[in-house]
Amino acid sequence: MKVLLLNGSPHAHGCTDTALREIAATLAAEKIDSEIVHIENTVHSCMACGYCKKQSQPRCAYDGDSLNKLLARIDEFDALIIGSPVHYASASGAVTAFCDRLFYAAAAHLAFKPGAAIASARRAGTTATLDQLNKYFTINQMPIVSSVYWNMVHGNTPDEVLQDEEGLQIMRTLGRNLAWLLHSIEAGRQAGIERPAAEPRRNTNFIR
Ligand SMILES: Cc1cc2nc3c(=O)[nH]c(=O)nc-3n(C[C@H](O)[C@H](O)[C@H](O)COP(=O)(O)O)c2cc1C
Repeated sequence: MKVLLLNGSPHAHGCTDTALREIAATLAAEKIDSEIVHIENTVHSCMACGYCKKQSQPRCAYDGDSLNKLLARIDEFDALIIGSPVHYASASGAVTAFCDRLFYAAAAHLAFKPGAAIASARRAGTTATLDQLNKYFTINQMPIVSSVYWNMVHGNTPDEVLQDEEGLQIMRTLGRNLAWLLHSIEAGRQAGIERPAAEPRRNTNFIR
C-alpha cells in the first residue's frame, strides 16, 4: 500500500514538507509506503476545456507541467494527503490549480481512497485552508482521516515547525490513523467487502 503526499508549497523543503515527512516516517513504521510529490510553482490552472472528460485514462489537455506524469501513475496510490502552506488564509495558488485539475481528471481513480489535508502557517488561516482542501474529498466519496486536532503545524521555517511539538504529534497521529484505515480497508477487501454500488448520476442545477 502506498500513500501520495502532495506538497503544494513553493518550497520543496519548507514547513509543509517537514510536516509531510513526519507523516511519511509514521507510515513507514506502520509498514505503509509513501511518496512526497512537490507541485512546481508554475502549475497551470484548469482551463475548463473538458478534454479530460473525453479521455479513457486520466489526462489533462495541458502537458506543460507535472500533472500528467502523476495522472499516469495515479492508480499506484491507495490514499492521498494534500499539504499546503496557508497563503492569505487559503490554500496556495499552486495546490488549488493542481488539485482542481487532478480531481477533474482522475475523480474515479481517487474515489473511496482515504484522504486528508494538512496546513502549515505562521499564525492564522489554517482551518479555512483545511475546509477548502477537504472539499476535494467530500465531493468524491473519499473517507477523510482525522487526528487529535485539526491537521496543522505552525512556523515560518522548518526549524520552527520542528519546535511545534503539538503539530508534529498531530501529524504522527494522522499517519497512524491513516495506516489503521488502510489496513482495515485491505482486511475488508480480503473478506469480500466490495465498494458500494453506484446509482446512475443525476446532475441538476437551479434552472432545470
Ligand atoms: C503569499 C503568502 C501568504 C501567506 N499568508 C499567510 C496567512 O494568511 N497566515 C499565516 O499564518 N501565514 C501566512 N503565510 C506564511 C506561511 O503560511 C508559512 O510561512 C508557512 O509555514 C510556509 O510553509 P512552506 O515553507 O511549506 O511554504 C503566507 C506566506 C506567503 C508567501
